[in-house]
Amino acid sequence: MSTTLQQGRGVIAQYRDFLPVTESTPIISLGEGDTPLLYSARLSERVGRDCAVFVKNEGVNPTGSFKDRGMTVAVSKAMERKTRALICASTGNTSASAAAYAARAGIPCVVVLAAGKIARGKLLQAFAYGAKIVAIEGNFDDALRIVRELGEDGDFAIVNSINPDRIAGQRTAAFEIVDLLGDAPDLHVLPLGNAGNLTAYWAGYREYRTKERSAKLPAMVGFQAKGAAPIFYNKVVEKPETIASAIRIGNPASWKQARAAIDESSGAVDVVTDEEILDAQRWLAQNEGIFVEPASAAAIAGLFKCCESGKAAYSIEKVPRGSRIVCTVTGHGLKDPDVLAREIVDLAPVAANPEAVRKAIGL
Ligand code: F0G
Repeated sequence: MSTTLQQGRGVIAQYRDFLPVTESTPIISLGEGDTPLLYSARLSERVGRDCAVFVKNEGVNPTGSFKDRGMTVAVSKAMERKTRALICASTGNTSASAAAYAARAGIPCVVVLAAGKIARGKLLQAFAYGAKIVAIEGNFDDALRIVRELGEDGDFAIVNSINPDRIAGQRTAAFEIVDLLGDAPDLHVLPLGNAGNLTAYWAGYREYRTKERSAKLPAMVGFQAKGAAPIFYNKVVEKPETIASAIRIGNPASWKQARAAIDESSGAVDVVTDEEILDAQRWLAQNEGIFVEPASAAAIAGLFKCCESGKAAYSIEKVPRGSRIVCTVTGHGLKDPDVLAREIVDLAPVAANPEAVRKAIGL
């Protein structure tokens, strides 16, 4: 039987010519990428001005986040270089992805995490995939500093987004959007944490523009959580705090690159509050059936801010009427069940008969 099925081929098979792989690169894939770009009638209506809003749902990747796009490239290249083990620092999603791809490759993976700061679903994934998990008394920025030092000794391949292979792979999300829309969108909104993803999208859009696969470039607008917004405030945040644990970062690794992308694209960086994040998370789940984790909801909260707040760093008035807007939602809602758990506490059971159920429904 053929071992190269067409279905679920993954981003390296799909975009080989754009990625740093050769004949001798072993391809480690879980069938990542090719994620839905969903037109949202309700978001479009809220934005108005004949704009069309699309949601790029990265939560449906194999480990439930966008990290898989970069991880397939980083781990494939690490295997080509005969790496013995992988290492990463993470707010949760990178570690889940690294652990899965390491398992697929058959090599050990060490994940360094801030103790008590990782969403339950993500920690569970790292366990399930068999990673060696080290919890530190510190935050993500401390974890990344330690990983950088350990990686320098050459014992481990670092698979954080400071690894250029990660960024190379994550560019494929921009390629997919242009391939589907026939051009780049006018505006791209996404959450901003360690700042690798915005950097990668911009590199992808620029590359497609250079190769004349698109005629324009989008404005890139990144949203940080108010309590973890070093790029917005232009200052390292020593103790970042937000409910959106994925983007609880005070000193982003790709700070400069993301800043340059935002400026070159005539975009902006802005902040949203935890309350706005949770409202947007609920809104997207209940109005579009897309359940995302809080960090992802920052993009949706951000779009609302662009449209509805006089204080937005990027006003929607800047895009022409009839513009196409893409919001990337980066991770699946099930990864972080605890933020919503308080809404399901009082599920008192009723008798097991239709009358009691009808009464409970309130009919
Ligand atoms: N959304 C989610 C769900 C994330 O997990 C992350 C980053 C981001 C947004 C921000 O992306 O860092 O490229 O700006 N998570 C990293 C991790 C830091 O360790 O999983 P970014």
